[in-house]
Amino acid sequence: MTLSEPFSPMAQQALAAAFDLRNLPADFYENPFPYYAALRRYAPIKLLPDGSYLFSRYDDVKYLYTHAELFSSDKKLEFAPKFGDSLLFEHHTSSLVFTDPPRHAAIRPIIMTAFTSRALVAMEPMLEQMVARLLDALEVQSGPDLIEHFAGVIPVEVIAHLLGVPVAEREPLRRWSLAILSALEPVISPAVFEAGNVAVQEMLDYLARLIAQRRKQPGDPDQDMLTRLIQAQALEAVGLSERELLHNCILLMNAGHETTTNFVANGLVALHDWPEQRALLVNQPELIRSACEELLRFESSNQLGSRVTTQAVTVAGVDIPAATQLVLGIGAANRDPAVFEQPDYLDIQRKPNRHLAFGYGPHQCAGMNLGRMEGRVAMGQFVQRFPEFGLGKRVRAQRARFRSWSQLALVL
Ligand code: HEM
Repeated sequence: MTLSEPFSPMAQQALAAAFDLRNLPADFYENPFPYYAALRRYAPIKLLPDGSYLFSRYDDVKYLYTHAELFSSDKKLEFAPKFGDSLLFEHHTSSLVFTDPPRHAAIRPIIMTAFTSRALVAMEPMLEQMVARLLDALEVQSGPDLIEHFAGVIPVEVIAHLLGVPVAEREPLRRWSLAILSALEPVISPAVFEAGNVAVQEMLDYLARLIAQRRKQPGDPDQDMLTRLIQAQALEAVGLSERELLHNCILLMNAGHETTTNFVANGLVALHDWPEQRALLVNQPELIRSACEELLRFESSNQLGSRVTTQAVTVAGVDIPAATQLVLGIGAANRDPAVFEQPDYLDIQRKPNRHLAFGYGPHQCAGMNLGRMEGRVAMGQFVQRFPEFGLGKRVRAQRARFRSWSQLALVL
């Protein structure tokens, strides 16, 4: 159980005053919630030593997400010093998620053609079978790990299936995705930078070949996401350059990997740590939909979002200059007691549950219904198959943005 207010008011004040995202305390990764609580109370719009601001209250985070005209997603300013003239820079500045209106509004419908509800419904039986197979394999796996043998496998297979990546070619996808997303952490080493650039190059080469093949031999647009994207690109007046199409395919491959893996892993750990809630779900499987929303809120896979001010603004009485980096505390907002009653308690029947785990406003997660479906099938089947599952050694990944695990031993 992770309660977020174990500290006295004085200690909270000191924590909030000293807080620095670039120099996090050792216990932050394990349990950031006491820090978030201190920030919400004593420094809800916290000026960090590097000149950026960290927002931890729900209303402020939602306000930032809503006003794309004031708070830009474009990362050129932020990433130029970090990435220089590199492929990582090119990738992270030319995909939908880091594009501003009006271009964003023109491209988003093209990307959304990837997620027709018909395509999602059509793939649910395949997802159910795949999860059942993974659970069969877990039963006989020696030393099963929740990420390596289950949560990390599902999103790769799903997106590879939707894009029509042949089974034999799927092996590097998770490695590429992790390498590219790791470069988004607040501080990165030269090795992480290098691995990220290599991964972008390899993904660009791979996708260019895949798209060329699909142009020659289009798939069924009802089923095949890549064929729909290629056709939308040709039809849409705004057009996407070939390079932008490739970068957006990388985004589609990556955006759903870590997030969904961590959704399932964090979700199952939370259910493990709250046995009464787990028992409730085992006995009432129909609660899986509201359980998923609560798990997204309680242990949000993306803990931090980011924006930059387009002009001088005042938010909740704080004056912020133009071109200032802002960090949106999604994980903090989702535990805000002003919005969620007893926010540190897992309640799989919580209603309403207007969490911000998928962001909000014009950039709200394009793949959220796919992510939800994966979580629902994966966790729903898992707790029915292993209602008494235990956990052995668990090691938190030292990452602030993506709340994740580097080891999660399962005891079945
Ligand atoms: C539980 C799983 C997921 C979580 C927690 C999650 C979270 C998020 C968040 C917070 C954003 C907003 C970013 C921002 O405004 O700066 C976002 C955007 C996005 N997500 Fe997800 N995501 C998940 C699954 C997926 C999946 C499965 C896909 C696709 C395969 C996907 C594709 C995208 C795309 C394309 C965007 C950009 C949308 C835009 O800028 O208009 N996500 N996601």
